[in-house]
Amino acid sequence: MLPRRRRALVEGPSNFSEVRFPGVTIYLVEPRMGRSRRAFLTRLARSKGFHVLDAYSSAVTHVVMEQTSAQEAICWQESRAAPAPGCAGPALLDVSWFTESMAAGQPVPVEGRHCLEVAVPRKGLPSPVRMPPYACQRPTPLTHHNTSLSEALEVLAEAAGFEGREGCLLAFCRAASVLKALPCQVTALSQLQGLPGFGEHSRRVIQELLEHGVCEEVERVRRSERYRSMKLFTQIFGVGVRTADRWYREGLRTLDDVQSRVPRLTEQQKAGLRHHRDLSTPVQRPDAEALQQVVETVVVQALPGATVTLAGGFRRGKLQGHDVDLLITHPQEGQEAGLLPRVMCSLQRQGLVLYQQHQLSHSRDPTHLTQRSHTMDTFERSFCIFRLPRPPGSTWKAVRVDLVVAPISQFPFALLGWTGSKHFERELRQFSRKERGLCLNSHGLFDPEQKALFRAAAEEDIFRHLGLAYLPPEQRNA
Ligand code: CTP
Ligand code: MN
Ligand code: MN
Repeated sequence: MLPRRRRALVEGPSNFSEVRFPGVTIYLVEPRMGRSRRAFLTRLARSKGFHVLDAYSSAVTHVVMEQTSAQEAICWQESRAAPAPGCAGPALLDVSWFTESMAAGQPVPVEGRHCLEVAVPRKGLPSPVRMPPYACQRPTPLTHHNTSLSEALEVLAEAAGFEGREGCLLAFCRAASVLKALPCQVTALSQLQGLPGFGEHSRRVIQELLEHGVCEEVERVRRSERYRSMKLFTQIFGVGVRTADRWYREGLRTLDDVQSRVPRLTEQQKAGLRHHRDLSTPVQRPDAEALQQVVETVVVQALPGATVTLAGGFRRGKLQGHDVDLLITHPQEGQEAGLLPRVMCSLQRQGLVLYQQHQLSHSRDPTHLTQRSHTMDTFERSFCIFRLPRPPGSTWKAVRVDLVVAPISQFPFALLGWTGSKHFERELRQFSRKERGLCLNSHGLFDPEQKALFRAAAEEDIFRHLGLAYLPPEQRNA
């Protein structure tokens, strides 16, 4: 029982709502506690002059949890933003600290028995992970804690894409993407409670993987002739799902079948097949950086002041990729016009170009931004295969390179659009449209109501205009 003096305070007025303890800001964690109990405890504490926040923020000094293990608490903590340098994070406390404080009518000193802490934090899922629904609202690092789960779901996404089942593809991509953003490893299905993106099918797959280590459906897809052939064909430069599907229905299964039985291959496909071995081995980061240098040298010679930026997966921190994406611009608007053909000529003369397909800019008119369905950009570009010089003694290697030219006024949008990941871009555009009523693509951000184009000097401006926290490229691996 509490001493008398304290009891007196407990029985004080219940409509007391002014903050009496400025050094204490409480956050009550909902799962386990439950919504109604949390609401009740919040009202109670506020009536006693405690400062209670509904949403977690860096201002919180006391995090209160019910029936939560120390490990879960640590994981919960890890899922939050790190405290500012030099600041300790909030105290992670058992609800006993809260009830004692309520009884005392003031914050009781934190004692060891109140604290949820262990010496060695263990990876396990925190009970309440806050996970916003769009991939552009949360950081997604390159390496994460649920690789085998996300890879399995991505096989199913890919297979759905091969069948033209776009909704299904999206659903699996979403689930995989949420798993990539989780701060800890999922070890039980119950940990997905309250997270966005998991439909019945994804849950079933995850449950099977957690119970048996493999999922029958995923294994069946992986082994299937259909999946293997479609994967093989779509990996050929210049072959999309529709062509691959036609070939499959015509009975083709191998590269030899394609070589010998397809009467009219495009030049792009011929080049893809010619260099298939090289192109199906990943480009390593040092090679990508070397290529960026080679192209930059030529670009600057052709137009002093022009720049070449490595975009795509490598900009997101990947160590290897299927191609090298390079974005070219010049700080003075209009100077970039006509640059690409000169650059390609010069590279050709150096014997570096094995294949190129130049594509002119379709339009310089930014009104194409109003077309909602427009996802492909219309920048001047070249889809190429380069002959990557290797150190003396070793042979050269064929590498796929995408060269894209953007005028400086559109550069931040082009950079954002060409950095990816594909799923990140998809969600960013959907977020812009559905949540902000704005149309985003690699050329700009357009307000269809005001008929106004938003200007941006850097990627940060675009995030800010959309009301999103800035995510550096390394956190866009959704
Ligand atoms: N992109 C685009 N228009 C295209 C092709 C690609 O806007 N015609 C964008 C994609 O949306 C993606 C980025 O360019 O965001 C890079 O595409 P890609 O090279 O296919 O993917 P990476 O993420 O770089 O993956 P990888 O490492 O396999 O190359
Ligand atoms: Mn790429
Ligand atoms: Mn590319």
